[in-house]
Amino acid sequence: MDSIVIKGGKPLHGTIPIGGAKNAALPLMAASLLTDGVLRLSNLPHLADISTMAHLMGEMGVSISMEGDTAQGGGHMGRVFALNAAGLKDTTAPYDLVRRMRASVLVLGPTLARHGHARVSLPGGCAIGTRPVDLHLKALQAMGAEIVLAEGYVEARAPGGLRGGHVLFPNVTVGGTENILMAATLAKGKTVIANAAREPEVADLAHCLVAMGAKIEGIGTDTLKVEGMESLHGADYSVIVDRIEMGSYAVAAAVTGGDVVLKGGRIDLMESVADVMRAAGVDVVEVEGGVRVSRKNGAIKGFDVMTEPYPGFPTDMQAQMMVLASVADGASMITETIFENRFMHVPELVRMGADINVHGRSAIVRGVKKLSGAPVMATDLRASSSLVLAGLVAEGTTVINRVYHLDRGYERLEEKLAQCGAVIERVRERA
Ligand code: EPZ
Repeated sequence: MDSIVIKGGKPLHGTIPIGGAKNAALPLMAASLLTDGVLRLSNLPHLADISTMAHLMGEMGVSISMEGDTAQGGGHMGRVFALNAAGLKDTTAPYDLVRRMRASVLVLGPTLARHGHARVSLPGGCAIGTRPVDLHLKALQAMGAEIVLAEGYVEARAPGGLRGGHVLFPNVTVGGTENILMAATLAKGKTVIANAAREPEVADLAHCLVAMGAKIEGIGTDTLKVEGMESLHGADYSVIVDRIEMGSYAVAAAVTGGDVVLKGGRIDLMESVADVMRAAGVDVVEVEGGVRVSRKNGAIKGFDVMTEPYPGFPTDMQAQMMVLASVADGASMITETIFENRFMHVPELVRMGADINVHGRSAIVRGVKKLSGAPVMATDLRASSSLVLAGLVAEGTTVINRVYHLDRGYERLEEKLAQCGAVIERVRERA
């Protein structure tokens, strides 16, 4: 397993190109299951999770041709996939693939809506929580699906097709909203999705579905109204920029006292993150073609933040902000309301000298003068990124093991940081 070695203390200066959003690309790929036409997606990031989704869909019989890279406005090379599900031969998503990436469950809604049946392995939990899919299943049942759980699989049937219904999510679920939104585009009649997730990746999926001929009202709001269609057609669609990648590198610039332009970044996608960073004494401003983040002088001030569904502060930025809080002048309180176990980065940060105490869903962080480099272990995607950020600011050398977690969500991370002056390298484990 590869590791990443960082010698800390270098302020970052320069430009970081931001890629397409992993959490938009995954549902967008699943949307190709809704049509016999070709869905051409551009600006796809080169990430392990995208490859896993392509592998899963390939196993189901979706043909995926990689039409090379296209230079994007942000100077970022995004992949182009042409997906075609006309030859679908299997409506099963097997355990060994689903367990590797829970977003595989996003094939359930479109496959069931298009073919009247689907057999998808239950995803199982992951490091950050049990992460059930009960809300997805209840919503599909409200649309007439017959759901049976057997041998660790969801067996879903809708022999006469799904029918439009009124779906109310008791709490916000991004994946649940995406699964139902896709299913509703081919259901008979109208579907209302109340308490829908408003994440930009959900809106990106909705815009792509409209490009494929779907009829959707209320995009970007918490109530989506969908008029089912007989069929959808192919489309060309470019994936939205990754707001979490943006936020992660924004923290890298802030925590090292640097000055970085996030090229291709969009400030409107990271308002809640920008607000907290400004309160902490970091400059975050929109510039031509991106977002500039800098902290030249002055200490980082402590702050309070609570993760919430969009447009609130994103849970996927919680671990990264904890690093900023760790070296602030003063105390901060960070509360995680979305997942039940998303403080896996805390023990590793404490080993690097951070002063953090977890009380239930809240962590009290008392800023320290410096962090010290150490060998640390990555546990999940965003926890791993927080260890990289800590290594960038720590005195001495940090070695991060199990970086395959990072490769799921950050493309060319060490290259992008090295281009801005970080002393960072990937050590490939000899096979
Ligand atoms: C998406 O996961 C993202 N993944 C996650 O990003 C992100 O953290 C999460 O949304 C919240 O924003 C992708 O988009 C691929 P949820 P998802 O359904 O859809 C509970 C990353 O780092 N819940 O909004 O799985 C669930 O357990 C990843 O890029 C149920 O109880 O998240 C959680 O506590 C990590 N029953 C909460 O809701 C359900 O049926 C929010 O989950 C569904 C969810």
